[in-house]
Amino acid sequence: MNIQKNHSLKKHNSFAIEAKSRYFCQIESEDHIDSLLEWQQHSDLPLLLLGGGSNILFINDYQGMTALINTKGITIVGEDSDFTYIKVNAGENWHQFVRWTVENNYAGLENLSLIPGTVGAAPMQNIGAYGVELADLLHELKAIELTTGKSKTFTQKECFFSYRDSFFKSSAFGKYLIQSITIKSPKKPHWNINYEGVKNSLEGKTISAKTISNSIIALRQSKLPDPFVIGNAGSFFKNPLLNKEKWQTLKELHPNLPGYPQTDDSIKISAAWLIDKCGWKGKRQGNAGVYKKHALVLVNHGGATGKEIWGIANDIINTVNDKFGIELEAEPRIIV
Ligand code: EPU
Repeated sequence: MNIQKNHSLKKHNSFAIEAKSRYFCQIESEDHIDSLLEWQQHSDLPLLLLGGGSNILFINDYQGMTALINTKGITIVGEDSDFTYIKVNAGENWHQFVRWTVENNYAGLENLSLIPGTVGAAPMQNIGAYGVELADLLHELKAIELTTGKSKTFTQKECFFSYRDSFFKSSAFGKYLIQSITIKSPKKPHWNINYEGVKNSLEGKTISAKTISNSIIALRQSKLPDPFVIGNAGSFFKNPLLNKEKWQTLKELHPNLPGYPQTDDSIKISAAWLIDKCGWKGKRQGNAGVYKKHALVLVNHGGATGKEIWGIANDIINTVNDKFGIELEAEPRIIV
């Protein structure tokens, strides 16, 4: 395993922030994982496991070891009367994996098309879009415990998935390296096409994993900026979950506020709407800004520092709090 010093992470974070990592390596095999664990035993420095870098904001240089997970491979590992089980290694690009399933007529992941990042990062925050979450399709997950080097298989339940959250992002944070996930693709698919934009774009078309995936791609491209063109990390804030009381009070004051009831009785409200109503959409502060077509996305107009992005994020948090009494929570991981 080749270790580099003072390595630029600009190409490895979708915000395209110029930050340096004191040490840097790429993990491409089981041997590399062993070498990394051995390195860790002899070092007091922190370890940052990085996938596509699409959900991270570097406010400063990273004073530890960044390990880029780059392990590849997609395998059909089994089937029963209901599902086909597909195992995929952590370093595969998420969207390319989704397209592989679509091209090979495996259903289930089509609504999660064009989400940036890698397969290994997907379960961390339980990626979700257009009515589907990774938790709905994940069968099991294999991860190595960093302190012992032991590999463990987690069932879907053991991952404790919730809205943009999991065991690996919460109580077990920093303790595991995710090696692979196994997806269960239903043989009798249930299409999730009720989302406004999706339904409209499918009119007159035959419904299949491929046509849905194509519609989702077109929809995302029309609303969300391409990180290769303008640096961003997708939604920068989580949609707040309110209890019924708070929701009713707020709805009386703001009748147009969009809210979506959740299975646990909370109401998920739209952070984009709150930010939009504070007049932030399309605003710019230095090289950082709020995307002109979607208020939930912060962008790097070119040459922004992590501090600039974090500065506008905090100004947004403060104005939304002043106007609505709601404290927005950042979705990406913030490296201070
Ligand atoms: N809205 C505004 N102003 C805007 C944009 C949206 O008022 O500028 C309002 C609209 O009323 C709209 C509502 O917000 O109906 C919701 O917007 P949208 O459908 O675009 O979804 P979102 O809640 O902003 C979430 C996910 C996205 C995912 C979409 C589609 C989070 C934090 N974000 O966004 O995920 O693609 O739903 O399912 O849950 C990501 O996590 O990076 C991400 C892009």
